[in-house]
Formats: sequence, C-alpha cells, structure tokens
Amino acid sequence: MKFIDLFAGIGGIKIAFEENGFKCVFSNDFDQYCKITYDYNFSELLNPQKEMCLGDIAKISSNIIPNFDILAGGFPCQPFSVAGYRQGFDDEKGRGNVFFEIIRILKDKKPKAFLLENVKNLKSHDKGNTIKVIYEELEKLGYFVTDKVMNAMEYGNIPQNRERIYIIGFLDKSAFINFNFPNKIPLTKTIHDCLENKVDDKYYYNGKPLYERIKNDVIKRDTIYQWRRQYVRENKSNVCPTLTANMGTGGHNVPIVLDDKGIRKLTPRECANFQGFPKNYKLPNIADSQLYKQFGNSVVVPVVSRIVKNIKIALEKSMNEYYELVFEDFKRVFEFGTNYYIEPSKNTTGRTTGEPRGLGAILDAFTLGKLTEIGVEKILKINNPDKDYVLDFDIKSNNDVKDEPDIIAIVENNVSREPNLFIEIKNTSDNDRWIGLTEEQFNTIKRSSNNREIYMIYASIVSNTIDNNPKTTDLTGMFLKEIENQDKSQIFQKFASLNAKCKIEFIISSKDLEKFAYPFDRGMNMYETNLFEEKKKTSFYSQGGTKLRKDILDTKEFINFDDIMNLTLSNNKSAERNEISQFKIKGDFRLLYKKSTTYIECLSDIYLENEIFGKFKLERNKFHSFNLITVGRDPKLKRNNLFIAKNRIFQLMEKGLIRQPNEVIKEIANKI
Ligand SMILES: C[S@@+](CC[C@H](N)C(=O)[O-])C[C@H]1O[C@@H](n2cnc3c(N)ncnc32)[C@H](O)[C@@H]1O
Repeated sequence: MKFIDLFAGIGGIKIAFEENGFKCVFSNDFDQYCKITYDYNFSELLNPQKEMCLGDIAKISSNIIPNFDILAGGFPCQPFSVAGYRQGFDDEKGRGNVFFEIIRILKDKKPKAFLLENVKNLKSHDKGNTIKVIYEELEKLGYFVTDKVMNAMEYGNIPQNRERIYIIGFLDKSAFINFNFPNKIPLTKTIHDCLENKVDDKYYYNGKPLYERIKNDVIKRDTIYQWRRQYVRENKSNVCPTLTANMGTGGHNVPIVLDDKGIRKLTPRECANFQGFPKNYKLPNIADSQLYKQFGNSVVVPVVSRIVKNIKIALEKSMNEYYELVFEDFKRVFEFGTNYYIEPSKNTTGRTTGEPRGLGAILDAFTLGKLTEIGVEKILKINNPDKDYVLDFDIKSNNDVKDEPDIIAIVENNVSREPNLFIEIKNTSDNDRWIGLTEEQFNTIKRSSNNREIYMIYASIVSNTIDNNPKTTDLTGMFLKEIENQDKSQIFQKFASLNAKCKIEFIISSKDLEKFAYPFDRGMNMYETNLFEEKKKTSFYSQGGTKLRKDILDTKEFINFDDIMNLTLSNNKSAERNEISQFKIKGDFRLLYKKSTTYIECLSDIYLENEIFGKFKLERNKFHSFNLITVGRDPKLKRNNLFIAKNRIFQLMEKGLIRQPNEVIKEIANKI
C-alpha cells in the first residue's frame, strides 16, 4: 500500500510507515534544511521521485500527487481561529491554515485512510472548538474519525515524556471498526540507552557562564534536566522531557545531563535516540541548531509505527472481507431475474397469495441474494486469484432444483472440478436477530455435502448512497423508481453508482452450528435478541427525577447482586424452557414494576449473561425494559430450527470460539 508524507520534516513518520511495508510515493515540506536531512537519508541516485518535494503545500496541486492509500502528516501546530473558519474567512488564521490543505488533498484524492499528528493541546485549544472543526471537516468528506493522546514513554518504550494527539480516519466503516489504538507497553529502556559515551567537548558547559548557575542542581546521573531561564527543572520520572523545536533557537533549550566529563546538553544524535530513530539514521553536516529543531519537530518513531501497524491490520482485514459491486454485477443479476421470469417451467406465483408475480416482485426476491453471492465470489477471488469460483446461476425447472451448494464448480488451470468444500451463501442484514437453519435444511445440506466440510457465509449489502441510509436494501424499489422517467440505458449505470458493497459479516461452519446453535423447536416462540430496550428516566420518576410516578406498582432493590434471575414475558408467562429465561446478573439495580412490564434501573453498570442470547452490559443510571420479548404478531415457529443469536456470534468471534471471517475466507479460497 502507498502513502504520502506531508509536512514530512525529516521523515519520522515515513520511517514508521516503511517499517510496516508501506511505500512512500510523495513527500513534501517547505523547509530547505529538512530537505537536506531527508534526502541525505532517503533519496536514491537515479530515482528523483524519492526526493522530498520542496515547497509550500498551499501551492501544490493535487494533480501532481500520485494516487495513494494513506495520507500521513504531522502538521504544524499553529492553531487556527475557529471564528475565522465559521465565517468562511479565507485568511491566514482561518481557511488559510495548513489543515485546510490536508482537507483539500483528502477531498481530491480520497485515500482509504489518514494519520495526523499534533500536540496534545490541539484537543483543548479554544475550549475544544478547534478539534470539533477538524472532526467536522474530516467527517464531511465521509471519513470515520478517532483520536487518542499517547505518551511515548507509555506507548513506545522510549524514555521521553512526549504526549501527542494522533487522529486517524478511515473511509470504510469496517476498517474503522477493525482499528484499535495500540495498548500501553512497559518502559524497559532507560535514558542510558539513549545517551552516548563519547561526546564532543563543544556540548559541555564546563567553564561556560551557565555552569556556575546550574552545577549545584545538576547532580544525578539518572536524570535529565531542563534550564528554565532562572532555575533548573529536574525530570522526576527519569525520562527525557519533551524535545521541542525551540531547541534549535539557541539559548539553553536543549535538555541537560551530567556524565563523567561534566555537565552538557544532549547531542543531536541523542535527540534522535530519544525520538526512537533507528541507529542507521544519518545526520548530515548542517548546523546543530537545524538538527535540534528537526528532531524536536519530529515524532517518536516506535509510537507511530505501532499505530501504523494497526492501521494496516484494519485495512487488510476489511479489504479481505469487502467487495464493491459494479455495473456488470447488477446487469448479471437482472439478467438472471428476467430469465427466471420468462422461463415457462418456473412457477412465478406468490407463495401465500397464489397471484402471479410481476417482474418487479421477482427481481425483488432475487436481487439481494444474488448480489450477495456475486460479492462473495469476488471476495474469494481477491483472496485467491488463481481460481474461478462458479456460482449457480442456471435457471432450472422446479423439478430440477437440487440441494446444490451455492458454489457449484471450481476452475483451476482451465480445468473445472467439484469444489472441495460445501458453501452456502446467505444474505444478512442489520435487522436479523437469529442466524441458523431449519433442522430439515441442515440435514439436507449435510446429506448433499458428501462429507465435505460445510461453511455458511453470511454477507450483507450496504450502500451509503441511498438516502444516506446505509441500511436501505430495497435496491429493486430504487430500480423501478429510477426507470419511471429515465433514459433506460442509464439504469445499470445508476445502480453502479449506488456504491453498494458486499461485506462478509461472519462465517459459520457446520461444526460451529452444531456446537453453538440452540434447538428452537416447532411451536416455540421466536424471541427478540436485543432484549433490553432503553427507556427515559421520566417514564419512572417525576419532579426532577426524585419522585416515583404513580403507575409504578412496586420496586425492589438489589445491591451487589451476583446470581441467576429469571426473565419472564410481559404477560408474566415464563419461556418454554428454563435456560432461555435464566440470566446471570451482576451489579446494583432496582426493579420497577409497571402494569405488565418490569423495568431495570441500573445503580451501577450491570452485566447480564445467558447461554442463548449472549452477554449484555447496561450502563449505570440508565433505565431498560426487563422482560423477554417475542417477535411479531405470530411468534410461534412453524418448524424445528437451529439458531444462534446474531449478538452472540459476534461475542463468540471476540472470544475466538468462532473464527474471524477474514481468516476463514482466505482458508476457504485456498482449500476449495
Ligand atoms: C511538526 S513538523 C513535522 C515533522 C515530521 N513529522 C517529522 O517526522 O520530521 C511540521 C513540518 O511542517 C512543515 N511545514 C509547515 N508549514 C508548511 C507548509 N505550508 N508547506 C509545507 N511544509 C510546511 C515544517 O517545515 C515542518 O517541518
């Protein structure tokens, strides 16, 4: 993957990206001395592209920047005036700020992700308004954004007290969800790992005017000191204080240490060490003042490197699980639907009404399922391009429909063969509560699998473009609406521009199903899986939240509760089987009884767990309904089923009991 390095300085961020296998395709800074250091380390003879592009970013058109996947930039910390921004002023303080150059380039190039770095104070600047504008601008471009303040001594195993804010964004929601900031790690390095043994005399204060003023204070060898105009400040935690750009402005801004030869300031090489630069980083022969400024401005490489590693994991994970549907895919689905409609042997009456179904209804019935199959086929291809995965797109007469898998053949080296795995592809949406099969379906699949391993791949189709509602799935409705007044040749193009994506949500093997599914037999209830619905406090308390309302019939308080409690249906009936209603509950809470329903007031965070529904956490001070809820008007099941609550699948994946889809899909692509 490719990145660009803006406000590159001397390439601290670049090193972190390259350590993680990213390729730098463009770097820029307007400081000629930074360019000397940068090129001294990174330029290659005969490869001018590796050199830093020198110049003001405001004057660099996006056209000259090659395409890239990630934008990186430790942009200068000059804060901008939010007032100026709000009024749309195109001046130095408002829109003239370099942050808006980043926005411009993100807008023009739409990379998958970005990493921005700045001083910690950015977060509190102008009472939080500045960071708010930064978020607003980035989110306007469609990025999902997060940030974290991290200290090098806690996150980079580098003995420098350097707190910086890292702002990360992803265009893709799944990548965003997959991204985590790294955890803290122990600090095992000491300042002695960064200090040098032989240091040139010029760095010593011995005999110089400042010496007399500091010699009585600079007495410990494990400490780094700072000269603060009138006094010496000792860093109590035995790490280096924050290195700053003003180390380069002369005076005594460079931290001070005591060694065998006397009292001295840190050398530029030591500053490089305290920023975690690799030992082979070369310092050019330029003024020390420039080097001090450059390292003070730079980043702690290991911290950035750990963040970049997680960005990479998040992007790779989501790339393995994602496919963006294109023009051809929609065409293929509509061809299938139309062929189905005109196939004389097909029974195209509605299942319940018996009335003939129109083309729209037929398309509607197939679109999502078939698009999902195509999506999964393409994702398999991304994971292993050496094979073709042939989907079942034949229109067979009703009598001929067999229990075939959704991938009916594999073509490898021009030879077609039976797949080694039995694959069922299913569409799933946010509304699904339970995942699983009827017992009958499962038995049929097992029979037809001929002892091959069985995988059920659940994928969803989402589009951010339809009404800005990522959940909308009525593609056919959109289709029919579109063709009413439009030029029909545009139809498929319109679909292609819906930016619909197929995403693999989870993959369940037959073994997973056997292990984790619960048998919901015919005649049993279908239950809601999001059991606890949040309620407003005012439904229970009036008069500013102190007086219980009259319709509360009773209350019961439980402090330090850690036991099993049975949930009932709101008509006070119990579930068919004990294990459905038994919840292990931990925490402090109050039960509030209204007419037929019980509510829970959480006096602490409450943890609930049940074998079938999985785990829930209800937050302190919140109110929730506290009953089992059945689904729909007729919740009784018509068949024997094997179900896993969708909630629980994600929890099982988190625990590693069901494997992550990005791993399994790769294995399927190779093994099939
Ligand atoms: C905080 S430093 C970033 C240092 C970098 N992360 C590193 O590892 O060395 C900000 C850099 O932005 C550069 N800069 C500031 N304004 C600029 C502009 N308008 N165009 C290009 N570079 C600019 C400065 O010269 C400085 O090197």
